Amino acid sequence: MNVKVKIRRFNPEKDRRPRWSEFRVDAQPTDRVLDVLQVIKENQDGTLTFRRSCAHGVCGSDAMVINGRNRLACKVLVKDVGRSIVIEPLRGLPVIKDLTVDMEPFWRQYKSIKPFLINEDDPPYMERLQSPEARARFDDTTKCILCAACTTSCPSFWADASYVGPAAIVQAHRWIFDDRDQGAQVRLAILADGNGVWKCRTIYNCTEACPRDIEITRAIREVTRAIVTGEVS
Ligand code: SF4
Ligand code: F3S
Ligand code: FES
Repeated sequence: MNVKVKIRRFNPEKDRRPRWSEFRVDAQPTDRVLDVLQVIKENQDGTLTFRRSCAHGVCGSDAMVINGRNRLACKVLVKDVGRSIVIEPLRGLPVIKDLTVDMEPFWRQYKSIKPFLINEDDPPYMERLQSPEARARFDDTTKCILCAACTTSCPSFWADASYVGPAAIVQAHRWIFDDRDQGAQVRLAILADGNGVWKCRTIYNCTEACPRDIEITRAIREVTRAIVTGEVS
């Protein structure tokens, strides 16, 4: 099938403002949008810039806005978006070039919630054991691949980039409810501040955007409840 692809472009060395480029590509219905971008780059415009790595929905590097929705280009098939595809960079992060955004603000928010095991006890001889039930408590949020599709779909984040954002809260949830970790109260204090969970307006865009189907809004609600009650069971 012949597909029309419209891409929002921006080259900071040349452009004063973003512009649109249109391409025509022969694609199979089962091609991914990432394949289409690759064909354009290889055969029509080598300056087209986008980020990708694994091409299999694992690394989280090719999140972009495809026909108005935040998606991973490697997980969207041409047959699912039709003959006319409009592709834009993620919203709310500075554009470096074309579809590549500056992830530094996102990483700063991620780091702010201390995304690592905090445990002052001497490590055991073998690994720190955990029951299947305790693991299940935070299983959903371990699936996050840090693609930023959630945070950059959130109107609260667009309005105020100091909001820590749903991805950072998901990552905090992953540690707060891990019974091997001792840093829950530290993270809850961080997320109780003015840029934390209170900026979530339960808009649900994040949950809709997540390529890993993580129940993000539920995770935010659970972290909020833990802040209010002080309980992390
Ligand atoms: Fe991406 Fe989902 Fe993680 Fe958000 S929670 S960064 S959308 S994988
Ligand atoms: Fe934003 Fe998701 Fe809350 S879209 S307002 S973080 S429910
Ligand atoms: Fe790795 Fe798409 S390229 S998730």
